[in-house]
Amino acid sequence: MAKNIVVNCALPYANGPLHIGHIAGAYLSGDIFNRYQRMIGNKVLFISGSDEYGTPIAIQAEKEKIPPEKIVEKYHREHEDTMKSLDINFDYFGRTTDPEHSIFVEDFFRDLEKKGFLERRSMVSAYCPNEKRFLPDRYVQGTCPRCGFENARGDQCDECGRTNDPKDLINPRCSICGSPAEFRETDHIFFLAGKLESQIKEWLEEKKEWRENVRLFSLNMIQNGLLDRAITRDMDWGVPAPMEGMEGKRIYVWFEALLGYLSFAKKYSKEQGDEKLWKEMYSEGNTYYFLGKDNIFFHAILLPAMHMASGKYPLPMRVNANEYLRFNGQKFSKSRGIGYSVDDILKIVDKDSLRYYLSSILPESSDSDFTLKDMKDRVNSELNGKYGNLLNRVISFTENKNIVPEYGQGNTLEEEILRYLQSFIDQYRESMDRLEFRKALSLWLEAVKEVNSFINMSKPWDMVKNGDERVSVNMWYSLKAIEYLTVSLYPFVPSGAERAWNSIHGSSIPEEPFEHLKENCKFAIKNTGPIFRKIEIEEDEENELNLVVGKIVMAENHPNADTLLHLKVDLGSKIIDLVAGIRKYYPLDSLEGKNIIVVENLKHSKIRGIESQGMLLAAQDSNGAHLLTSDERQGTPVSIGKYSYRGEGKVTIDDLKKYDLKVDSEGLYPTAVIGRERLYLMAGGKKVYVDARVDPRSQIR
Ligand code: MF3
Ligand code: ZN
Repeated sequence: MAKNIVVNCALPYANGPLHIGHIAGAYLSGDIFNRYQRMIGNKVLFISGSDEYGTPIAIQAEKEKIPPEKIVEKYHREHEDTMKSLDINFDYFGRTTDPEHSIFVEDFFRDLEKKGFLERRSMVSAYCPNEKRFLPDRYVQGTCPRCGFENARGDQCDECGRTNDPKDLINPRCSICGSPAEFRETDHIFFLAGKLESQIKEWLEEKKEWRENVRLFSLNMIQNGLLDRAITRDMDWGVPAPMEGMEGKRIYVWFEALLGYLSFAKKYSKEQGDEKLWKEMYSEGNTYYFLGKDNIFFHAILLPAMHMASGKYPLPMRVNANEYLRFNGQKFSKSRGIGYSVDDILKIVDKDSLRYYLSSILPESSDSDFTLKDMKDRVNSELNGKYGNLLNRVISFTENKNIVPEYGQGNTLEEEILRYLQSFIDQYRESMDRLEFRKALSLWLEAVKEVNSFINMSKPWDMVKNGDERVSVNMWYSLKAIEYLTVSLYPFVPSGAERAWNSIHGSSIPEEPFEHLKENCKFAIKNTGPIFRKIEIEEDEENELNLVVGKIVMAENHPNADTLLHLKVDLGSKIIDLVAGIRKYYPLDSLEGKNIIVVENLKHSKIRGIESQGMLLAAQDSNGAHLLTSDERQGTPVSIGKYSYRGEGKVTIDDLKKYDLKVDSEGLYPTAVIGRERLYLMAGGKKVYVDARVDPRSQIR
């Protein structure tokens, strides 16, 4: 019996481009599952959309002096296009600024109020007297009461990592305008989630089939209790709180956005002219949520609590969170220039290759590492090399030799490969049902290898040479084998699989392809040339220099050399020793606490008895040496223009020369050459600079 299934993907914030970390975190897995469910004959509603309210967007709008509507409009459209460009096919991609969403949220809110789950309480909150508004925790800045760091945020101190209460900060101030912050009383609506604590715990306890990372993490979070939460905010960008005396307050963005799954489904149904559709789709309770791990609390605790309180909608059946995708070992970060936006990567590879590679490294059970080289190797040897070549071989052979494939009783080899493929499909489907997509794809790759050896052992070319008429039966088995591989590839690489199917059938993949596999079908070869392309990535357009902001924590004269210094430099993740020839230019006591730029992956060398574990960069001009520096924190990676570090292993001084490091024509900012472009060195989105003005175009060493 066909099931009704709802597949929801976390709504991306509409305030910046999607990067491949987002895709690997939630959307690709969601789409793979969506496609797979349809293939096995289920009815699916596949929903996502833009998360358009909330403080970060409001603040960004203020900074850029444009209305928030402009920002979300731009990124909503962009996200919609980005999803399409990757064949991620939502039935509906909504917007939380849609008035129909607001109405839905208001109704939900009122209903919870009626059911006794909302309560008005007074609380003390940070307030900026200059801007006359309350400040969200993260927009209060001050000195950390625990470690003394001066720029700690109200919610968390980036130096010692501990969470703060804004009230505990020393000299709290508004991080937007810098005025001293006050604390004032204000009323908010609280969601009485505490009442549901044991119910949520029991519910989570039973979710044994969920991944441990979601279930245990969630249970752990409420180990010491589930707190009532304020679900209104003092701000003007959001859904208005529909309660008397609460004018001017907005509903907390998470509380409201989580209802987007339902309001978008409802809106979609209306647009389809079938207003009951969404309720039908939810009626069996088969609801799957795909998200990144930073969203677990909201989907595995807050959303179920909301639904328990309202009693109107089914609780999530499965909350599926991926870990992080890393880029050469570092966390993806737009602001720090690490990793690729989807648009950028699609300039280098096609969507099929990207989907294939990301599927093969989905961070399902632990973080995984994306590298361009690995992508190139994998795609070229597996998708293109093994599967693509297999297809091309069989198709051209059938065509060139004018073979008409025909079903017939198979010999041992032929029967065996079909039996193998049938059991492969069973295992594959088990993995897919368990949401182990990466496993399913690795089974697929094994199957491709098996089919390749089947063909090598069958030797159809010998059959042709010997005038053996069985070749048309043998080719039928080869094509059937390709059919299995193509159908099972489809959820991962839909466009490529469609092309492949077309090349053996001259039509598109049928609605229920797993049923088709069992048929003794006819084939209609349509040779349209190679189905997949090799990835060509120009190697010289890579940045192999791992440049990092470092903070000098110790400086002393080198014991065995007059011109050298010995420094200890904090790179965020570790402290290294450096030997540098700047003794003549910098008094010892001027160095501690200074930020410098370090080549982290330079081959170590022993300099007069001390091992230098990298090299600092300084501009050299007629007045001496001047350090490159940055205001960013130690550990911040430094990119060369848009090229962040993508190398591996160590570089030598000779490698360094290729980048022709020089100060610009103003004598202020360091540059380097990649490909044919001269680009600025960037840290945290800002230019690195020289700590004094130097002669234009001075060499950097
Ligand atoms: N915008 C959030 C994020 O990108 C996800 C919101 S999911 C929702 O982390 F369901 F609450 F909308
Ligand atoms: Zn202020």
